[in-house]
Amino acid sequence: MRYSPIQKVVYRSYFWFIAFLIVVAYSILSTGYIIYLLRDLYHGAAHDLRLIDENLRTLSKNLSLCHDGKLKIPVMCQSGWKYLKKTNSCYRAFDVELSFTDARAICKESTNDRSQVDLVSIQSLEENQFVYDLFPEAKGAAWIGLEKFAKIPDFDGWTNGKVLNYRLWGNGEPGKDDGHLGAVIQLGYGDLDWQHWKTVDIMKKHQFVCQQRLEKETRDYLAKQKREKAMSKCMDCMCAQENCQNDIGCVEVWGRTACGNYQITFDYYIDCGMPKWMGMIETQEEAWKRCSQDISCSRECIANYYNRWETNCPNKTMTICERMIRLHKGGPNGCNQNMTLPFWNAARDKCS
Ligand SMILES: *[C@@H]1O[C@H](CO)[C@@H](O)[C@H](O)[C@H]1NC(C)=O
Ligand SMILES: *[C@@H]1O[C@H](CO)[C@@H](O)[C@H](O)[C@H]1NC(C)=O
Ligand SMILES: *[C@@H]1O[C@H](CO)[C@@H](O)[C@H](O)[C@H]1NC(C)=O
Repeated sequence: MRYSPIQKVVYRSYFWFIAFLIVVAYSILSTGYIIYLLRDLYHGAAHDLRLIDENLRTLSKNLSLCHDGKLKIPVMCQSGWKYLKKTNSCYRAFDVELSFTDARAICKESTNDRSQVDLVSIQSLEENQFVYDLFPEAKGAAWIGLEKFAKIPDFDGWTNGKVLNYRLWGNGEPGKDDGHLGAVIQLGYGDLDWQHWKTVDIMKKHQFVCQQRLEKETRDYLAKQKREKAMSKCMDCMCAQENCQNDIGCVEVWGRTACGNYQITFDYYIDCGMPKWMGMIETQEEAWKRCSQDISCSRECIANYYNRWETNCPNKTMTICERMIRLHKGGPNGCNQNMTLPFWNAARDKCS
């Protein structure tokens, strides 16, 4: 097939035109994507880091719920670990065989808080049964957290610092051996003394069980709950104080525009991390007005602001609510400014 010179020119320009279109489309798309990424970076990068970090930590843990009386405390065992409520701990059985010292080191490496994890300390028959059941194949033995140095007459405590009150030694254990010893729980079903403990030379290799105590996590969690409750109560009270109502609009306060029930200014909204800002499709001003008209968005903003500047309130005797109101009224240094005192004094009765 042959083309006339005119056809050739026409086809060639088609070709170039389509190539041009592809290049243009590609540049528009990639520029859009870069803007999108930059916006994300800009959008309170520092502010979001904490949240991202928190999300990652939550994701990497296996969350399950336990009901402790009235309190609902989330139990955070990493996946592969099992929770025992009685001791508020997570346990993991390792079926590789290592010396006592290596096993202990692996326990320490297995969570991100070394101080809360060690070889297991067994303090009741129930816990002993629980540990035993971690090994579906009941064979061999597993290190537990008991160690006795050479020339010391007896085991005198758990490696994790717990007192050695409960003992489940097998027959003739612990013997009179004055070497450097550890202890194992015997797993072999049907063996003499199975489920009981036995002393073993520290260099022998065995399976082992690690225990992570959650007291600290639980304490942190409860403290966080208490704090969030106090913040929420304070915001209720601020709302009552300002005579909260729907659709209050914007007013001029000291030459600045403040919007909504909590009188949020634009600068304040930026400073609190611009919650609910819908990046590409609205300006920050629009987001600010929308957020300050919306009680729950405003509260998110106030809580963020408080979390961010609380360290500027070093006076330990101040309540959370006093700090919150004075920061809210006076900005980052509000706790140290006398001009915020009247606001707090006016709210004090309702908000304490
Ligand atoms: C979380 O733990 C539960 C109970 O121990 C288990 O059934 C579940 O498969 C675990 N989920 C993940 C994602 O590890
Ligand atoms: C700390 O705060 C308390 C409670 O508001 C107040 O009574 C006290 O005077 C403050 N102390 C200082 C040194 O500002
Ligand atoms: C705030 O008030 C206290 C006493 O009421 C006074 O000692 C202090 O100097 C004042 N601070 C400022 C910055 O005005």
